[in-house]
Amino acid sequence: AKISVIGAGNVGATTVQRLAEMEFGSIVLVDIVEGLPQGKALDLMQAGAIVGYDTKIKGSNDYADIVDSDIVIITAGAARKPGMSRADLININTKIMKDVCEKIKQYAPKSIVIAVTNPLDIMTYVALEITGFEPNRVFGMSGILDTGRFASFIADELAYSKRDVEAMVIGGHGDQMLPLPQHSSVFGTPLPELLGEDVIAGLVERTIHGGAEIVALLKQGSAFYAPSAAIVQMVESILRDEKRILPVSAYLQGEYGQKGIYFGVPAKIGCDGIEGIIELELTEEQEHALKESSASIRENIEDLDI
Ligand code: NAI
Repeated sequence: AKISVIGAGNVGATTVQRLAEMEFGSIVLVDIVEGLPQGKALDLMQAGAIVGYDTKIKGSNDYADIVDSDIVIITAGAARKPGMSRADLININTKIMKDVCEKIKQYAPKSIVIAVTNPLDIMTYVALEITGFEPNRVFGMSGILDTGRFASFIADELAYSKRDVEAMVIGGHGDQMLPLPQHSSVFGTPLPELLGEDVIAGLVERTIHGGAEIVALLKQGSAFYAPSAAIVQMVESILRDEKRILPVSAYLQGEYGQKGIYFGVPAKIGCDGIEGIIELELTEEQEHALKESSASIRENIEDLDI
């Protein structure tokens, strides 16, 4: 397979490192900064001699190099600074997404596009509009990361292995995301049977602000180790046609009572991209929160300059 990663920053380069180690195929890393993708590609190729992989990695400033990619991952764009919300990035990143997606349409018209750039649900919509691809081939990375954060906090609280925790977070990738305790469990036992309401509420709150917690600590840049791991899980399910059910930002066409927006939901991910969307049962309170989250995404989409 051929995988292209747009944006050679923290998320893009770390994603290439993880993909290279898994030997899925050749990789192209593109950035607008001259020398940056070339330098990182060389460094990552040389790591192969030590770690033991033969993955070909090409760094480039020329989009022609992404020609005929099977998967294109978009990480180009500005990241949050302390005090900024993901929505604050909207204008800068819309311009970048438009530019990048026109190139993807031109050079990799058969690819599956995974958007990562924030604000995620809005930028994934821009990718759909600009590429004109079918919605099953354009989706965003959000839920695996948010779910991973929730699972990590649950595991720490209960002193279990993170591997035995199944968590679920749906909704917009922002302050209105919806961690779902009743659909989260440890080895089959639902979270509400394991922890008190107050403790769960604390973990939910920390999950919602999990990205901001890291932004505040780093003082420059935002998270990239867990985000890149989440991207690779999506790539793996596509390339191996695993058909795993993973929470991703998917284009809704009636599911969850929503139409025409990208929203975090569990979806079956295989060689055709999104092969189905799973509708979970929600409490009344969650239904209400879901409507609020989707309304705020819809507002942002209506204001888009595309
Ligand atoms: P970064 O600042 O380290 O890297 C961004 C890179 O994009 C830079 O190297 C920059 O030169 C490049 N770039 C800018 N315009 C470009 C263009 N037109 N074509 C090609 N490259 C271009 O940022 P980082 O930390 O890698 O984050 C990237 C994006 O991903 C941000 O928008 C961030 O908010 C988002 N993000 C989303 C997550 C999610 O859950 N969906 C998680 C983590 C980050």
